Amino acid sequence: MILGASEGGVSGRRVGPLSGTPKLPTAVLRSQARPGLSARARIWHHGSMDTISPTDRAYHVVLHGATGFTGRLVAEHLAAHHQDEGLRWAIAGRDEARLVELRDRIRSRFPESGPIGLVVADNHDPGSMARLAASAAVVATTVGPYVRHGEPLVAACVAHRTDYVDLTGEPQFVRRTIDCHHDDATAAGVRIVHCCGFDSIPSDLGTFALQEAAIARDGRPCDEVKFLLQDIRGGVSGGTIASMVDLLEDARSTDVARVVSDPYGLNPEGERHGPDTPDQAGVLRDPVTRSWTGPFVMAPVNTRVVRRTNALLDHRYGREFRYSEVVDTGTGLRGAVRATLLAAGITAFRGAMHARPTRALLRRFALPSPGEGPSPQSIESGHFTALLSGRRGGSEVLRATVHADRDPGYGATAIMLAESALCLALPGEEPSGVPGVVTPASAMGHALIGRLGRRGVHVRVQD
Ligand SMILES: NC(=O)c1ccc[n+]([C@@H]2O[C@H](COP(=O)([O-])OP(=O)(O)OC[C@H]3O[C@@H](n4cnc5c(N)ncnc54)[C@H](OP(=O)(O)O)[C@@H]3O)[C@@H](O)[C@H]2O)c1
Repeated sequence: MILGASEGGVSGRRVGPLSGTPKLPTAVLRSQARPGLSARARIWHHGSMDTISPTDRAYHVVLHGATGFTGRLVAEHLAAHHQDEGLRWAIAGRDEARLVELRDRIRSRFPESGPIGLVVADNHDPGSMARLAASAAVVATTVGPYVRHGEPLVAACVAHRTDYVDLTGEPQFVRRTIDCHHDDATAAGVRIVHCCGFDSIPSDLGTFALQEAAIARDGRPCDEVKFLLQDIRGGVSGGTIASMVDLLEDARSTDVARVVSDPYGLNPEGERHGPDTPDQAGVLRDPVTRSWTGPFVMAPVNTRVVRRTNALLDHRYGREFRYSEVVDTGTGLRGAVRATLLAAGITAFRGAMHARPTRALLRRFALPSPGEGPSPQSIESGHFTALLSGRRGGSEVLRATVHADRDPGYGATAIMLAESALCLALPGEEPSGVPGVVTPASAMGHALIGRLGRRGVHVRVQD
């Protein structure tokens, strides 16, 4: 159900043409002037991916799952920062009363936020998914666990030619939508962009920025990029725990094993090979920085997203490109001890979450429930810094950092998801990129780096 004129006064209006966005055939025609590149790469090269999202929609952006913990933060970001951009947007969820309450709360906190539409939609009601998809140029969704609830909305967005962004970190869900929807989304010119949060934007955009700078400076990319998480402070929400539990419960299923055991598990079929090996599980000393490193829990999804970006961009980073992610725990004995504790802690947590009785105990007494998450103070005081070390022949040749002064999974993630949606939707934005089930860097590249930088999530290359 779409509640419009009487509620927010916007759903009956039409969104104007998304300016600066010629239709796809024009780009393909133009791209034919560059032999030697595939159509996808040529569209990328021209830096003018044609937004073919329908222009005749009630909203630029609908945020689905707005009543959840992360959804509320995304809604607040949109209300706080985008009233001056001519944005027409709506919040969506399955419970109308909670949506009305949320909208009232947003209006009282951000009186200048302008009209906010309401869309009532349940992911398990195909009719409401169709109406939701048809109402917007871009749908951003925080309804998770995605593997449980996500696919009907992806299908509806492909069918209605609506661009889509989400926060999934569930690799088996991404693999499923690639298998089921990539070809149709490509044919329709729709961008289904998963992993637009802390997983995997810092990894994907950091690597993209580093490689683009290497190509611009040296005429060739780095042959290896290593992501070292150097500093992180943040909390966790019940929705993230629920998604993690789903992933661990499914860990032995074919779907999860197929992706997690294969470093190229999210690559296009026929391109699931390369020089990378499984993610680091133990403690190692990095040969370039000399610091100790332990496993990074998000590496199984982030690394595969970065490799998919490379494949979608016609191996712009090279066919022999290597990518890995670790947590940097510092140098000396202290660094070694911290890396050992980290590796042991991850193993113990995974073990506890695998076994039903300990999982139940953890969820009851130690972990947040759905709808709960870190306090506003903890979100404000959170931060993260990742170093991306670009290497050739084992020596570092270029560095990039990704940094934000906000809790990575919530404060910074809300900015990343909101700005991704706006990047695809707003007049004046001309995101470069490829259609299909794609990645943040292959869909939005430089345009998203610019947007995020203006909102406090900084991707910087250091010479
Ligand atoms: N990538 C990242 O860095 C990152 C960061 C944060 C979160 N996440 C992911 O984002 C997701 C949400 O996390 P969260 O903590 O915000 O979770 P949450 O508070 O539990 O919110 C989940 C939302 O989904 C809605 N929902 C559930 N089933 C639905 C259905 N059938 N139809 C429509 N809506 C439905 C809920 O509606 P009600 O309000 O009506 O219950 C709620 O609004 C999780 O998958 C989490 O892993 C990822």
